[in-house]
Order: sequence, then C-alpha cells, then structure tokens
Amino acid sequence: MYLSPEEEAIYQGERGETLRRMMEILVALGDIYGAERLVPVRSVQIAGVSYKNIGEAGLEWISDLEGQVAVPSILNPAGMDLCRWREMGIDAQFAEKQQQTIEAYRKLGVSIDCTCTPYQIYDALASPGDHLAWSESSAVSYANSVIGARTNREGGPSALAAALVGKTALYGYHLDENRRPTHLIEVDSDLRGSDYGALGYLVGGMVKDGVPFFRLRGLHTRPGRDELKALGASMAASGSVALYYVENVTPAPPARGAEEKISLGQKDIQEVYAAHPAEGVKAVALGCPHCSAAELARIARLLEGGKVVMEMWVCTARKTAEQNPHLVRIIEESGARVYCDTCMVVSPAAERLEKIMVNSGKALAYLPGLAGVKAGLGSLEECVDAALGRR
Ligand code: F3S
Repeated sequence: MYLSPEEEAIYQGERGETLRRMMEILVALGDIYGAERLVPVRSVQIAGVSYKNIGEAGLEWISDLEGQVAVPSILNPAGMDLCRWREMGIDAQFAEKQQQTIEAYRKLGVSIDCTCTPYQIYDALASPGDHLAWSESSAVSYANSVIGARTNREGGPSALAAALVGKTALYGYHLDENRRPTHLIEVDSDLRGSDYGALGYLVGGMVKDGVPFFRLRGLHTRPGRDELKALGASMAASGSVALYYVENVTPAPPARGAEEKISLGQKDIQEVYAAHPAEGVKAVALGCPHCSAAELARIARLLEGGKVVMEMWVCTARKTAEQNPHLVRIIEESGARVYCDTCMVVSPAAERLEKIMVNSGKALAYLPGLAGVKAGLGSLEECVDAALGRR
C-alpha cells in the first residue's frame, strides 16, 4: 500500500510508539484487503467499550495508548448507565472496570457519548460522501445507507487506530465498486414501526453480507429515519449487511447490475412475529438502536398515566435524554427506566431477565446469543401494553 512521506514517518515510529502501532494496524488491514492508500476520515465511532466484551486484556490495551485522537471520535454503548449502574443491578467491581475503560478513552480525547446512534446527537460527524471509520453495525449501516457516507465496519482496534491517525485504509465500502446492489427485494406489504425490524431480520438472514435494494410497494409505506434505522440495524444483526438502498428514499446506488430478486409479502413479515411470541416475557426493553427524541415522545405518550408491572428499560443516548427531560419524567413516572450510555445487549444487567420483549429486529437477533436471554417481538404499542400488564 502506498504511504505518503508523512505516513511513512509514522510507520517508522518517528512520531512515537502509539502512532507507530496504530499505523501498523491500518497498513496490515490495507494490505489484507488490497487498499491502494489511506484516506482521511471525518469522524470515528469506536466499539469495544463494554467491559463485558473487552475484558481485562482490552482495558490494558487501551490504557497503554498515548496521545490524542486526530478527528472527532465517539464511543459505542458501555456495559452500564455510567450514572445509574447500581439501579441496573451492576456490581461494584464491574462498574469500577467499566469506569476505568471510559477514563482510558477520555484520556485519548474520545467523546464519552456512549451511543450507537451518534448521527442522532451530532450533525457534524457525517455528511454525504464523507469517509468515516465507524464500528457499531447499525451505525455503519445508517451512515452508508441513509446519510450516504462511506465506512467499513471497523473493529475496536482499527477504529481507534483511525481515530489516532485520522485516516483509514481505502477499501470495501469506501469504493463505488463495492456499493452496488446485489439483491432486489420487492416488498408487497404495508409496513409500519417494528415491521421494518421484522423485515430486516428476515432479509439479513437471506442476503448475508450482500447489498439489498428495496422496492417497497405498500401503499402507505414510506420509511422515516427511525424506520430506516431499525431496518438497517436488524439486517446488520441477522446478516452482516452494511449498506442497503430503499428506492426513492435513501441516496441512490452508484450503478445497478444483475441482482438476485427476492419477493416478500405481509405473510412473511407476520411469520417473524409468530416465530417470536411474547408469551412468558419478564421484561420489556426498547431503544435498540438507541431511541431518538421522537421515539421517546411516542413511548411517553403510550405510558403516560400508567404503571408498569414488569421491568422496562428505554435505552437512549445521554444527550437525547438530557435534551428531553419532560419525556424522561413521564416515562419514569410509570416505573420504567430510561437508561443512557448502554443497552440490553451490551450490559450484563440484562442477563438476569429470563425473557425480554422488544420491538427491534436487532435485539431479537442478538439477545439469545450475546446475553443468553430469550426474546419476543412486538410493535412498540404491544411492548408498552405488555409492560403495563394489558396483555
Ligand atoms: Fe445499539 Fe445495543 Fe442495539 S449497541 S444497536 S442498542 S444492541
């Protein structure tokens, strides 16, 4: 891979050991994937934050690094609400290690907004055409597909390397040739809310790491930002889709070619719900990916005046919660909890909940494997009804 004189100097260790190690990671990836050169990135989103996932070895690796990030960089959700971890049932030892992890990132100049939806709280992180180095799969999908930026799905170390160097290797989804649709998905069904998560759950399993192009034929179907967020998140979890298109909704692909055609209808969507019933749920968790302000408003409206009869988590970014204190108050008056910085999948606190009802195709795909918890799928309204004991 070609390196400029300045990049070569970093590679040779002339700017310190940390940058040398980071450049080594970028060059190794570039060589593996056949990148011609590095490209500057506008922002970085770093996974590998929950101590549940990185453990002691990860914490030591991060703590060892020196210097400051070269571009705006933000963290993925941690293993707990950084303020209300006791309420979540997190033990003090885990909390201590999680705080140390956060401090290690803070020392490097990384912004401690632990969220998988950085695009909901900062406009300046990504615009159409920008090169990025983001990690969390739903954020990657949103950046590529809805914003029209360009990012591969980075691992924790490669994202941190990009953050400290300010560049990433130019391959994969940074290049037009890899951004062409591989599948045409025709959906003959009206879709709303969690139907997009159910659709994504289905399609991700079918196309794996392909690039689906959706033609939505439902009369009343025009997905907004939250629906696109849910669709991309679930395809990234049940498959490993990092880029998709919705005809006349998202930015268009660079070119179309031979695409494998898949036709889906109402019956296929309903089968996803039927295969994951709500019977026996012990808790409800919403906010996968993290809730937007509009979603908090919808949840607040549904909960207002009621009392939940089981544990209910609403996960969001701390900034979103802080900007909407009235919504948080209404939700919490019902007995539900608005947890920030974390989620039901990356926090060990969810592991004690035997079966969780969700409205997210991504949580549905991940909870059994990553948290050892069974999951049922329902619409937002059905989830809230279950929490209120109305089902
Ligand atoms: Fe975000 Fe956690 Fe879901 S990181 S996308 S809320 S699994």
